[in-house]
Amino acid sequence: MSVDYTPYSRARDFGTPEPESDRQVTLSVDGEEISVAEGTTVLRAAALAGINIPKLCATDSLEPFGSCRLCLVEIEGAKGMPASCTTQVREGMRVTTQTEALAKVRRNVMELYISDHPLDCLTCPTNGDCELQDMAGAVGLREVRYGYDGANHLDAEKDQSNPYFTFDPSKCIVCSRCVRACEEVQGTFALTIDGRGFESKVAASQDQPFMDSECVSCGACVQACPTATLTEKSLIEMGQPEHFVITTCAYCGVGCSFRAEMKGQEVVRMMPNKDGHANHGHSCVKGRFSFGYATHRDRITKPMIRDTIHEPWREVGWDEAFEFTARKLRGIQEKYGKDAIGGITSSRCTNEETYLVQKLVRAAFGNNNVDTCARVCHSPTGYGLKATLGESAGTQAFDSVMQADCIMIIGANPTDAHPVFASQMKRRLRQGAKLIILDPRAIDLVNGPHVKADYHLGLRPGTNVAVVNALAHVILEEGLEAKEFIAARCEAEAYEDWRQFVLDPQNSPEASEAETGVPAATVRAAARLFASVPNGAIYYGLGVSEHSQGSTTVMGIANLAMVTGNIGREGVGVNPLRGQNNVQGACDMGSFPHELPGYRHVSDPIVREAFGREWGVEIQPHPGYRIPNMFDASVAGQFKGLYVQGEDVAQSDPDTQHVTAALSALECMVVQDLFLNETAKFAHVFLPGSSFLEKNGTFTNAERRISPVRKVMEPLAGLEDWEVTQALANAMGYPMSYSHPSEIMDEIARLTPTFTGVNYAKLDRLGSIQWPCNAAAQSGTPTMHIEEFVRGKGLFRVTPYVPTDERTTRKYPLLLTTGRILSQYNVGAQTRRTESLRWHNEDVLEIHPHDAEQRGIEEGDWVGLQSRAGETVLRAVLTERVQPGVVYTTFHHPESGANVVTTDNSDWATNCPEYKVTAVQAYKVTQLSEWQRKFEVFTDEQTELLRKAQQSAEVS
Ligand code: SF4
Ligand code: SF4
Ligand code: SF4
Ligand code: FES
Repeated sequence: MSVDYTPYSRARDFGTPEPESDRQVTLSVDGEEISVAEGTTVLRAAALAGINIPKLCATDSLEPFGSCRLCLVEIEGAKGMPASCTTQVREGMRVTTQTEALAKVRRNVMELYISDHPLDCLTCPTNGDCELQDMAGAVGLREVRYGYDGANHLDAEKDQSNPYFTFDPSKCIVCSRCVRACEEVQGTFALTIDGRGFESKVAASQDQPFMDSECVSCGACVQACPTATLTEKSLIEMGQPEHFVITTCAYCGVGCSFRAEMKGQEVVRMMPNKDGHANHGHSCVKGRFSFGYATHRDRITKPMIRDTIHEPWREVGWDEAFEFTARKLRGIQEKYGKDAIGGITSSRCTNEETYLVQKLVRAAFGNNNVDTCARVCHSPTGYGLKATLGESAGTQAFDSVMQADCIMIIGANPTDAHPVFASQMKRRLRQGAKLIILDPRAIDLVNGPHVKADYHLGLRPGTNVAVVNALAHVILEEGLEAKEFIAARCEAEAYEDWRQFVLDPQNSPEASEAETGVPAATVRAAARLFASVPNGAIYYGLGVSEHSQGSTTVMGIANLAMVTGNIGREGVGVNPLRGQNNVQGACDMGSFPHELPGYRHVSDPIVREAFGREWGVEIQPHPGYRIPNMFDASVAGQFKGLYVQGEDVAQSDPDTQHVTAALSALECMVVQDLFLNETAKFAHVFLPGSSFLEKNGTFTNAERRISPVRKVMEPLAGLEDWEVTQALANAMGYPMSYSHPSEIMDEIARLTPTFTGVNYAKLDRLGSIQWPCNAAAQSGTPTMHIEEFVRGKGLFRVTPYVPTDERTTRKYPLLLTTGRILSQYNVGAQTRRTESLRWHNEDVLEIHPHDAEQRGIEEGDWVGLQSRAGETVLRAVLTERVQPGVVYTTFHHPESGANVVTTDNSDWATNCPEYKVTAVQAYKVTQLSEWQRKFEVFTDEQTELLRKAQQSAEVS
C-alpha cells in the first residue's frame, strides 16, 4: 500500500512553553553555549541544547508549576538548587544539570513517588510510554528505601464513567498537570486538587465521577498526564501504537491537526498535533475521541443499485455501478435535456474531491447545476464579504484573537461548535479582553467559568440587522468612527451614503429597542466599548447567515469593522466561524452554480476560456440551479437526476417534506456516502464513500488554512472518493486520469490565482498554508486586506432592516431557533455512531418556564411543535437560557424532525434558509407527529431493503 508511515514516538516535550520575544540571551548549559529567546526557562533552554533535565510536573503545553522538584539544577553564583522549570535564563548564566548532589536529590524525589505507586509496569497500558517510568530510569532509581507498606493510595477506586478515558487515582502522582491543562488549555476548570499533603488528590467538579462533572471530554488532561492515571480506553484495549500519520480532523471548521496513532490499519488514538497551526496541540471530544464511526458496522462498503426506491438494493461491483449510473444519467439528459441533472458537493469531503465533482458537473454533465451545503449555511458570508471587502472569506488567522482587546460574537456558539478555537478565545478573555455577545440565547460564554460577557445583547431572532445598524448608529452619532482609516481605505461616496443611512433616527437603538428587545442603553454601551478599544474583532456564525437578511447582516458586520478601523492587522477583523471542516474549501473550489473555482463568475468569458481550455470542453455561461431550485424543479418534473457526494439533504435542509417530495420525484438519485443516510433512502445508486482516514487530500478551515488529509488506512470499499467521481466521469464519457490527489491540486493551482503557490510538497514542508498563496505571498496570507482591500477600497453597503415574513401570529406565537451541541456533529451520521451518544441521545426542545407554564408543559413532557411547514414532537427541557417567546432545538437526530418544522424562507441574496427563525406553536401531546410515524415506517422499509440486499449478497 502507498501509505508512508512514521514509526511511533512521543512528541518532543521542551518542558515549558516557548516565550514570545525577539531578544536573545546566551547562557551555557553543561559547558555548551546556547542562545535562546528572553523569557525561556533553563529547562527549555537545556532541552533546546539537547540536554534533557528530568522533570515530571512540567510540560511545554503548560505554564511551569515547580512542584515535583525533579528538575533541580546548579547555577553558578546562585544559592541551592533552583528548579529549572521556573527559573528563567539570564545573559551569561552557567548551568550544571548533572552532579552527584543533584542526582541524589532527584533519586530521593523519585523514591518518594514510587513508594506510593503500583509496581505493575508490565501490565500497565502505558508501559513504555510513561514519563514516571522514564524518569525512574533517568535518575537511576535502583531501590525504594521507604518500602511500600506505609499509608498509600494503591487501593483508590478507578473512575471508568467517561466512555473514552479512565481515571485510576492509584497511579496519580498529584503533579497537577491535568488540573492545569483543564484550566490553561481547555478553560473548563473541571478539575481541582482536593485536600492537602498526603490526602491531596485530583477531583472532578465536586469530587464527582468524570461523566457527572463539568468535564467536556476534550482530552487535554489525558494528554498532559505523565502517568497511566488518565488513559484513553482505546489505548488500554489495543496497546501502544506502532506508527503515526499527521492528518486533519474531519469535523468542524477549526481544522485541528492530529497524529493518527496506529497499530497496523487500526487507529489506537487521535492525538492533537502540537505543531498544528490551528489547534497548537489541543482538541475537542469529537476529533480526539469520536472516530469509531469510521469502522462502524453500519458502513456500507459495496456499491448498490435499484430501479425504484421501494425495491430491494442489489449489491454490485464498482464497474456495474458506474455503468448503471452513467446509463441512467445520460438517458435522462437525452429524454429531458442537458439541464435535467446536477450534483451536490460536500463540505465534509476534500478540496480535491469537491473540485472533481464540480468539474464532473460542468465538463461531463455539461451544465452548471452544482451547489453545496454552504448554500444552507455560509453562502451569505461569501456574498456579503465579497461585496464589501472583495474576498469571500474571513480576514484573520485564529491566533489573531490573542491580540484582540474586545471580542464581539454574533450568532455563534464557539464552545459547542468550534470548541478548540473557543478555548483559545477564552484564554484571551481571561487575560482581560472584553466580550460582547449578540445572541437570543445565553450561550455558555455569557456566564462561563472565569469568563463573562461584558454585554449580552439578547436580541429577538430575526433582528440582527437592526441591532448591527444600531451599533453603527451610536458609533457615528457619538463620533467614535475611525476617520483616518475610513478616509484612506474606503470608498468615500459609498461611505457618505451609508453614513446618512445609519444616522437616520430610525436606526437608533432607541427606535429599534421595541423590535429587537435589546435595551438601547445596552446597545450604546456595547458600541462605545467596541469602538474605543485598540483592537476589536468580530466573530460570527450561522446565527448571522441563516436568516432572510443573512447577507445584509454580513455586510453590516463588514461595515462595523470598517467604521471602527478594525481590518488589516492582527487582533481585529471579520471572522466567519465556518461550520463544517471544509465548507470554506467547498466554496473555494467552485461548488456554487454561478462561480468557477476561486469565486470567478461563470459569465466571465476569460475565466470560462481558461477552464474550458484545461478541461477540453465549453463551459456554460449561465449559472445553474441552486439546491432549492433543484428541489423545486424536481417537484415540477423538470429535474430528474442528482449526484450527491457526502451530504444528507433529507435531514439537513429545511422543510423536510418538500425535500423528500423532490427526492422521491427523481428518476436517478446517486448517493455517495459512508452510511445509508436519510438521503440515501431515496437513492437508486449507492456508491460507498471513504472516511477522512481512508484518503489523501486537503481541507480548508475557517481561517483559509489548507491542511493535509492523509490516508492512514486503506478505503474499506476499495476506492477513495475522488477515484469514484473520476470513474463516474469516465463512465459518462468524459475522460479523467489523475493518479493522485496531488495532481488535482496542481490543476487547481494552475487555474486559480489565489492557489497558484499551493502544492503538496509545500504543504508537507509548512504543515499548512493560508490562501491566498501565490507569487505575492509564497507561504500564504494569515491576515488579509493589510495595505488595501482585495477589491481596492472597502465598500460600505447600505443595510436597511427588513423584518422577516416569518412573524409570530396568534396561531404561531413562539419563535423557534436551532443550533448545535458539543458532543454531536450536524446530522449526527458520524457522532451518533460513537460513544458520544451518551451525552446526547435525543434532540430536545428548550422552552422558557414561563411559556411552558402557560401551556401546562412540564420538564420531560412530549411537546408538539408546529409551524406552517410541518409538525414534530420533542421532549421539553425548561430553561431560562432561552428568553420567553423563543424555543430552541438541535437537529442531530433524524427522527426528531427539526427541519420538518423549518420553512422555505431564505436569504434574499443567496437562498440560504432561514433556519434561525420559524414561527411555531408548542403544546403538550402524548404521541409522535404524523410525520414521525411515517418516518418510522419508511425507515423500517428501507432498513429491510438494505438487509435483504446484504443477505442475498452473503448467500451468493
Ligand atoms: S477532558 Fe478536558 S474538560 Fe475534561 S477534565 Fe480533562 S481537560 Fe478538563
Ligand atoms: S492525574 Fe495525572 S496529571 Fe493529574 S495529577 Fe495525577 S498524575 Fe498528574
Ligand atoms: S475543534 Fe473541530 S476540528 Fe478541532 S477536534 Fe474539535 S471538531 Fe475537530
Ligand atoms: S519539572 Fe520542575 S519542579 Fe517539576
